[in-house]
Amino acid sequence: MSERKTFYVTTPIYYPSDNLHIGHAYCSVATDTMARFKKQEGYDVYFVTGTDEHGQKIERKAKDRGVTPQQYVDTIVAGIKSLWQLMDVAYDDFIRTTDQRHVDCVQQIFRKLYEQADIYKGYYEGWYCTPCESFFTELQLKDGCCPDCGRPVEKTREEAYFFKLGKYQDWLIDYIETHPEFIQPASRKNEMLNNFLRPGLNDLCVSRTSIKWGIPVDFDPEHTVYVWLDALTNYISVLGYGTAHDEPYRRYWPADIHLVGKEIIRFHTIIWPIILHALGEPLPRQVFGHGWLVLDGMKMSKSLGNVVDPVALCNRYGSDAIRYFLMREMPFGSDGQFSYEALLKRINADLANDLGNLVSRTVAMVEKYFDGRVPQPGRYDELDKALIALAEATPAKVRAQMNELQYSTALSDIWALIGECNRYIDATAPWVLCRTEEGRERLKTVLYVLCESIRFVGVLIQPTMPRTPGRIFEQLGLTDETRMTMDSLSAFGLLPAGIAVHKGEAIFPRIDIVKELADILPTPKAEAKPEPAPKVAPEAGAGKAAAAAPKTEAPAGDGLITIDEFARVQLRVARVLACEKLEGSDKLLKLRLSLGADAPERTVVSGIARFYTPQEMLNRQVVLVANLKPAKLRGVLSEGMILCASDKADTVLKLVSVAPGMEDGATVR
Ligand code: MSP
Repeated sequence: MSERKTFYVTTPIYYPSDNLHIGHAYCSVATDTMARFKKQEGYDVYFVTGTDEHGQKIERKAKDRGVTPQQYVDTIVAGIKSLWQLMDVAYDDFIRTTDQRHVDCVQQIFRKLYEQADIYKGYYEGWYCTPCESFFTELQLKDGCCPDCGRPVEKTREEAYFFKLGKYQDWLIDYIETHPEFIQPASRKNEMLNNFLRPGLNDLCVSRTSIKWGIPVDFDPEHTVYVWLDALTNYISVLGYGTAHDEPYRRYWPADIHLVGKEIIRFHTIIWPIILHALGEPLPRQVFGHGWLVLDGMKMSKSLGNVVDPVALCNRYGSDAIRYFLMREMPFGSDGQFSYEALLKRINADLANDLGNLVSRTVAMVEKYFDGRVPQPGRYDELDKALIALAEATPAKVRAQMNELQYSTALSDIWALIGECNRYIDATAPWVLCRTEEGRERLKTVLYVLCESIRFVGVLIQPTMPRTPGRIFEQLGLTDETRMTMDSLSAFGLLPAGIAVHKGEAIFPRIDIVKELADILPTPKAEAKPEPAPKVAPEAGAGKAAAAAPKTEAPAGDGLITIDEFARVQLRVARVLACEKLEGSDKLLKLRLSLGADAPERTVVSGIARFYTPQEMLNRQVVLVANLKPAKLRGVLSEGMILCASDKADTVLKLVSVAPGMEDGATVR
C-alpha cells in the first residue's frame, strides 16, 4: 500500500499580545483553510501554530502589569487558543517558545552552530527596535528611527554572539534564483534579492546579555538567544528535531508552506534558510508572504489603535461568515481593506442571497412538489447539461486556484456555480413546470440537478467554511459521508435520489445593513452634533477639561439636553495599567488605560497630579469619556478624559469611580 503524501503547513507563531485582532486571524484562517483543503485532497496534513513568548517587549509588558513574564504569557496564550477554537482553526500542534521541548532544541542548535564556528563571540554596538525585536546599523535607520515601523530605536553596546550570515550569502542568492517557487509571490523574491541579499549581509547578532526573558545560551548563560533565532526554530522544534522522538520531523520536514505576513518574510527567507543550511537540513519548499488587512489605509495594529476584534465579529455573524469574508475579499498576497460595510454586503449578497436562497428555495420546492424526497432525474436536456458541465469543471478550477493559494479566486469559481444554479431556476421556471403532468416529469430532473449541484457546492466550500456544509447536507437529507468528499465530486449524480430533505432555518439570515451599521459604528462625523461640554477633569485645576476638549456651544434655551444627546457621550470603566508624571508639568499625569481584554489600550493625560501620585493611580478603576476627540497635551496624544469631582475653589479633587466588582470596559450610563 502506498503511503499518503504529507503536507506540512505553518502560521507564524504569534506574539502574545492581550488580544489578537482580525488581521492576525487572517493568517491563521488562511493556513487552516489550506490544511483542510489538503486533507480533502487526501494528504496526511500537519498544521502547526503557536506563540512567540520571549523578548524585551513581553518583559516590559509583564513589568507594567506587576507580574512575571511567565505569568503574563500564560494568561494570554489561553485566550489565543480559545480564539482559534472559536474560528475553527484546527491545528495539530501548538508550540510555545517557553515549552521545554522548544528551549532544548534552540539551545542545541545554538551550540552546534557555535561548535562549527558559524557563531562566534564579539561586541555588539548598534540600534535596537524593541517593538520589532530587530537590530539595525546606523546606516539602516530611517531618519534615526526603525526602518520597519518608524518608531524610536535604542542604542546598545554589549558582548554578544554573532552568526556568520555573510558566509552563506552567495549560496542563498543562488538558491533563490534557482528555486523560483521558494519565495512567493514573486515580487517579494525580488525585494529580498535586491534590498537585502545583493547589497550584502552583515553577520547577525544572535544573543543579548541585557535581555533576561529569553532562552539562555547553555554554555554561557549570561546570554539569551536572539528572539528571531528562537522563534524561527519553532517550525522544527515542534516536530521533535534533534531528539530521540523525531518521527514527526522525519515525516513532515521540509515544510510545504510557511505562511507569513509580508513584514516578516525577510526573517523567513534569509535568516531561516541560512540557519537550516548551516545545520545541514533541507529548506521549506515555499514561504508565502501575504498582504495585510488594513483599516483606513493603515495596517491593523494594536499600537495604532485601529484593531477589529475577531471574537466580537464571530459572535455576531458566525465564524464561517468571517472566514468567508477574509478569504474572499482580497487576493492573497495583496493588502485589503477591512470595513463593516464590505463585510455586511458580502454576508447579504454572497451568503444570504446567493448561497442561502439557493439552498432554501431548492429544498422548499422538493418539499412542495415531491413530498420532501429528492426526485429521480430523467434525461438531461441542453440546459441541464450546461449546468452539469460547470459543476463537473469547478472542482478542478478550485483545486488549481487553491494550489496557488488564490483563495479568493477559488471562492469566486464556486460562486460562479452558485450563480449559475440560481439562473437555472429562473430559466427552468419550476413554478410553471409544476402545473402540468409533463412539466412535473421535467421538474424531477431540474430539482435533482439543483440538489446535486448544491452537494458539489457544499463539498467545495468546506475548507473555508467548515460549519456550513453540515447544515446544507442536513437540509438535503444527505447522510452518506462518502458523498461529502472531494473524491465524490469526480462524477455528477452521486446524490442518492429518494433521500428526505429537511427544510431548516436560513443558513445565513439577511442583515439590515443600515440598521446594523448604526448599531455597531460610532455616529458618523457628518451627523455629529457639537461635542458635549467637558465634564470635570482638570488640566490646570478642577473644572477644566484634562484633554484640551474642543470649544463647545452651550445647549440652546434652557440648557437641558435630551437623553439622546447624553447617550452620545461614551462613559466607560477603565483600569490604570501604568501611570507617570508628564515631564515638564507639575499638574499632568500620563496614564495607560485598559478598557478590557477586547479593546485597545489608551493613553490619557489628566490634570490630577496635584491630587494623586502615579503610585496611587496604579491599578485603580476610573471613569473615562471614551469618545472624546483625541488632543495633544505637551506632545502626548490624550485619547479621552477621566472624570473627577471638585469643589468650587479647586482645592479638593476626587476621582469618580464605580463600586468594586465591575469589569474593565463596562459602560457607565
Ligand atoms: N512572532 C512573530 C512571528 C514569528 S514566526 C517565527 C510575529 N508575530 S505577530 O503576532 O506580530 O504576527 C503574526 C502574524 O500575523 C504575522 O504573519 C503577521 O503578518 C500577521 N498579521 C498581523 N497583523 C496583520 C494584519 N493587519 N493583516 C494581516 N496579517 C497580519 O510577527
